[in-house]
Amino acid sequence: MSGVNDIRTAFLDFFRKNGHEIVPSSPLVPRNDPTLMFTNAGMVQFKNVFTGLEKRPYTQAVTAQKCVRAGGKHNDLDNVGYTARHHTFFEMLGNFSFGDYFKDRAIELAWTLVTKEYGLPKDKLLVTVYADDDQAHGLWKKIAGLPDERIIRIATSDNFWQMGDTGPCGPCSEIFIDQGPALQGGPPGSPDEDGDRFLEFWNLVFMQFEQIEPGMRQALPRPSIDTGMGLERMAAIMQGVHANYDTDLFRALIDAVSHAVGRGPTELTRASYRVIADHLRASSFLVADGVLPSNEGRGYVLRRIMRRAMRHAELLGAKDPLMWKLVPALTREMGQAYSELVRAEPLITETLRLEETRFRATLVKGLSILDEASKSLQKGDMFDGETAFTLYDTYGFPLDLTQDALKSRGIGVDLASFSDAMERQREKARAARFSSGETATEAIWFALREKLGATEFLGYETETAEGVVTALVHDGKEVAELKTGETGSVIVNQTPFYGESGGQVGDTGVMTADGVRFCVTDTQKEAGGLFVHHGKVETGTLKVGAALALDVDHQRRSAIRQNHSATHLLHEALRQVLGDHVAQKGSLVSPDRLRFDFSHPKPISVEELEKVEDLANEYVLQNSAVTTRLMGIDDARASGARALFGEKYGDEVRVVAMGERVGEGAGNTLGWSIELCGGTHVKRTGDIGLIAGISDAGVAAGVRRIEAFTGRAARKLLNQQAGLARTAAAEMKAPLDDLPARLGTLMEERKKLERDLTDARKKLAMGGGGKSGGDDGIRTVGDVKFLGRAVTGVEIKDLKSLADEGKKQVGSGVVALVATSADGKGSIVIGVTADLVGRFSAVDLVRKASEVLGGKGGGGKPDMAQAGGPDGSKADAALEAVAVALAG
Ligand code: ALA
Repeated sequence: MSGVNDIRTAFLDFFRKNGHEIVPSSPLVPRNDPTLMFTNAGMVQFKNVFTGLEKRPYTQAVTAQKCVRAGGKHNDLDNVGYTARHHTFFEMLGNFSFGDYFKDRAIELAWTLVTKEYGLPKDKLLVTVYADDDQAHGLWKKIAGLPDERIIRIATSDNFWQMGDTGPCGPCSEIFIDQGPALQGGPPGSPDEDGDRFLEFWNLVFMQFEQIEPGMRQALPRPSIDTGMGLERMAAIMQGVHANYDTDLFRALIDAVSHAVGRGPTELTRASYRVIADHLRASSFLVADGVLPSNEGRGYVLRRIMRRAMRHAELLGAKDPLMWKLVPALTREMGQAYSELVRAEPLITETLRLEETRFRATLVKGLSILDEASKSLQKGDMFDGETAFTLYDTYGFPLDLTQDALKSRGIGVDLASFSDAMERQREKARAARFSSGETATEAIWFALREKLGATEFLGYETETAEGVVTALVHDGKEVAELKTGETGSVIVNQTPFYGESGGQVGDTGVMTADGVRFCVTDTQKEAGGLFVHHGKVETGTLKVGAALALDVDHQRRSAIRQNHSATHLLHEALRQVLGDHVAQKGSLVSPDRLRFDFSHPKPISVEELEKVEDLANEYVLQNSAVTTRLMGIDDARASGARALFGEKYGDEVRVVAMGERVGEGAGNTLGWSIELCGGTHVKRTGDIGLIAGISDAGVAAGVRRIEAFTGRAARKLLNQQAGLARTAAAEMKAPLDDLPARLGTLMEERKKLERDLTDARKKLAMGGGGKSGGDDGIRTVGDVKFLGRAVTGVEIKDLKSLADEGKKQVGSGVVALVATSADGKGSIVIGVTADLVGRFSAVDLVRKASEVLGGKGGGGKPDMAQAGGPDGSKADAALEAVAVALAG
């Protein structure tokens, strides 16, 4: 039992047998601590459990915790590779008691594990305790039987453990092993304690206090235990090797490096192999936990780690990108204990390959500049900071990489002139912005962006996190606090809130601390990376520097995610159904619906819409994983990713792929839908639930807009529609299935009835009362036949066709029909048969009649004219006026 994996398992099992819950490692990006860049100890995930803020269903726990110490307070990056034990990534084994057992049991458990399970020789072990901790001293004596000279009191901070400037803390007791006089060094507390002979491997912290702020400490609700054992160290001890890099796990990784470069380490090149092995672990685990290389924050630390390893790969003579080839070796060694490594393997591999490819493009040129500029320098000299800045700015050499490259020659870098060059660069960027016409509101966001850096976005991985308020804005000005009832904007160092961009609306939710509640009504992304949370203080006073619990409205965000992923599926479905000309013109992804504008010359038919919806839903049902990668823009394009035409993208882009392609070409594509996208998406396509209610409309020449619903909203819509259909069927007293046929028949019947009714009315009108002639209503005026009638029940619009019929009836003559509407107005139509058009004009005649009705004018043609007047009761008189005109 001395392989790294065995040692880890033995630790977990031992504590499990002793009543501890095995808790999985928390992610490297802490969710519950805004002050920490990376998880750097086992207790980080339990911070709030120690202080009593959070309750767990157990009071004893054991973990193997992934830790990174690079960037921030504990920065080991510079030493890694050159010492026996420094790492950027390491595993901390620890047992925890939350107000359960305290010093005595902690010491007893530790001693049993170390001496019985791990079988370390008792007489080689010694411990330290905090100077005034008589209790711990006594317990070590009693439980372990250690003599006084092997229980060393230490008065310094070495034996008082603090997580950071704030948080739980307490005196600690460390266990050491004496590796024998062959190695240099003295026992802890002695002047030469830093030597290698006495090696510390386990720290037991007796958690008793919480550091609230510097100088202010308060007792924890109940004393607790936090311990940390470096797995790599323990493995080195148990395997009898001096350096952690000589343990089985690291040997396997270093063998993989040797294999990839074609030769093994020598005294001179050993550090490079170690750097690569160590950085491979840190890089891979960080990528698996959602960090991707970038130029700021956590992403930049990752980039520095990656590039440092890549330069060492180059030093070893690797001609092509190398790191990505080592990933399978790492997964083999650690994938069983950390399944995230296996899950993320493709992403890790691609990210490493991309980063190394890009870095290599400038590495050789950069290195030659570095060599040239440092050629004449001697040990102890300083390298010019300006040149270091050029290497950083133009060739992607992080400062510590330049430092690392010069370290072996004993040359430092002039940091002051490096900072000056950096500041000048910023000034230039600022000036360029002002001359490009930035507005006053933008100015404050740019100023804050520059002062605070970009906000670290955690929202791809989590919807809750903690953040520290770095700025508050009220009425366009920076303020120190926002009081109850005030609206304003909050900036925090890291946030799970998505800032509106790429068509996806911003998140809403709440930010809370003791007695303070800020309701976030919108989140915007300003100045290229500053997340601004707009909202209102509901209770308390919000101050700069406050630590807040940040909670995104989960249900709303889930709906947004469903709509965003559905938009991608519909985009591809549209292309497949309508053709390759379909290109995105815009989109809106909100919680209640999705909208997608695209180029297409004509309306989309119902059948096409149905096909699009069906196709997209097929991929919903496929329930395949949605994957996200960071890729170079050219690679992304080559992969077939769809991008917004005319949009400016950075060199590196997020590529979201979903849907498994089946059939031809299935294996060599990232997915059925591939898009450049910074938005948030569902984990699997099935999470969309359903896409429904797709509709089409035109928005501009050649641009169509579809809208659709997903998930709950889609179901609600379909339920509503089904409800309407059921009501309609009930009204019709027909089974639902017969409804369309029944409605068709009904409409036919209705049309027929309308026709019959019109005919009946006409007949009635022409045959009924109000005649001014014989039985057929025709009389002769002079030598002209005149059919004059006041008609009832006829609509004005039908008067002309009635007059036509009248003309047929008279054969040769004049027809005059007056209808009176419900409001008493009169309308008159006059028809003159063709043979008489030379003698009488319908237009003249209708004018005369309309005068009688109190109207003026009228119009039409000589054979048919129409007019009206307000006084319909004069209908008969009007007809008479026509007769008089015919007689005259
Ligand atoms: N939290 C303690 C440490 O990191 C155990 O050393």
